[in-house]
Amino acid sequence: MSSTDNNENIKTKEQTEALGLLHQEFKLSAEELKDLAQHMVVEMGKGLQSHNSNVPMLLSYVRHHPTGQEKGEYLALEVSGSYARLLLVQLHGQGRISTRQQKYRITEDLKRDAMSKLIDFLAQSVNSFLRFVKKQDVKEPLALGFSISFPLNQTALHHASIGRWTKDFEITGTDDKNLASLLQEGIEKLKLPVVVKAIVNGTVGCLLAHNYRSLDTLLACTVSTGTNAAYWEKTEKIIKCNLESKDKEEEMIIDTEWGSFGDKSPEHLPRTCYDNRLNRESINPGIHLFEKMVSGMYLGEIIRSVIVDFVDRRLLFNGNSTKEMNTPYSFDVSYMSAIELDNSDDLKDIQHIVEAIMNVPKTTLVDRQMVKSFCELIGQRAARLTAAAISAVIEKRGALETGLPVSVEGTIYEHYPNFPERMNNAMREIYGPKIANINIGVTKDGNGIGAALAAMIACTKE
Ligand code: BGC
Repeated sequence: MSSTDNNENIKTKEQTEALGLLHQEFKLSAEELKDLAQHMVVEMGKGLQSHNSNVPMLLSYVRHHPTGQEKGEYLALEVSGSYARLLLVQLHGQGRISTRQQKYRITEDLKRDAMSKLIDFLAQSVNSFLRFVKKQDVKEPLALGFSISFPLNQTALHHASIGRWTKDFEITGTDDKNLASLLQEGIEKLKLPVVVKAIVNGTVGCLLAHNYRSLDTLLACTVSTGTNAAYWEKTEKIIKCNLESKDKEEEMIIDTEWGSFGDKSPEHLPRTCYDNRLNRESINPGIHLFEKMVSGMYLGEIIRSVIVDFVDRRLLFNGNSTKEMNTPYSFDVSYMSAIELDNSDDLKDIQHIVEAIMNVPKTTLVDRQMVKSFCELIGQRAARLTAAAISAVIEKRGALETGLPVSVEGTIYEHYPNFPERMNNAMREIYGPKIANINIGVTKDGNGIGAALAAMIACTKE
């Protein structure tokens, strides 16, 4: 019998039906996306009015748009995931920037240790970097901007405490301490010629970085291990804080923390039983529900959950699971990328991932096709949800008619197959031909460059 007429290579009725149902569960129509965006706009409005909203809308105290003409040399420290990255940023004016950079691994232990340990590690990293760029003996201290990709309770450009740890960080002993001061103390212990001038959320940094070369960028969004967006808001609209504003046009960057959308009203998020399970079993149930459907930290775990469910129903791998498959977070998002990219007739790369890495003894072509479909559904949904969230921010600022550059960055946006195309398709469904008014650009190294720009702004204000 040839392999094509082998029964193993044809989906059973049960498999076809189950896949159809799964498709229904993960599918999001244009209407559903618009609906979700409308709810997000409402929640963003509430977030500007009170401290108790689904979308926190955190103040950044960045009030000065870069002009792109600033010059100088600044240090940046970026903590976003498994690395601390240090950058020496040269601003050349005319929107031109050059950097030298190094990254230092944040171990899994450190992500769950005391704050003092993390600070010591960061100060040591600054020390190594100064040696690398031969700046350890400079007479004039270097100004440093600190970008950290977690929600910040900010009261000034150089004063912020962690609102909460997200993703896989669970640092203890942070309380309400000002991170900029803690870092400065760590740096002083090592007698390094560095002054911490500013602290920003990573996405705020991305927006500043994009602004330096594209002045009218209104919004920056990140789809990476986590997801978030920051945008320029009119100061007079930020009602929850008494900010003195000199004129009506004055603006401040708001860190939306859109990852939290749905936390207080999950009914606005079209969640599947797989999303519910992931949330329930996560280290922070009930927190960052939107992020848990979109970002790189969670996509693989959703797939794993679907796979295990199909195995339990004997619709996949002949009902065989493995220790690897049963281990939470063992299915990395990079496997999903490789699976989506596998267009070979026999799906060899998928076979390698499922059999050699996840240890499933044997897969049929149908098994591999099903796993590929899971990845397509879940990857597609993440891109469409991101498009809806971007459209919410655009709507909030009423910016569509005037046209606007939008900055997007992050490993998922930049490296997950077809993510930008899927996101653009969804935006086209939302906006029709007006999509031409939105000009999406990628910001490379935005977190770090933006932190340096925040330090520059802090120095200029002095
Ligand atoms: C954090 C944000 C961050 C985003 C992207 C989220 O988990 O809450 O502050 O910007 O991840 O790294």
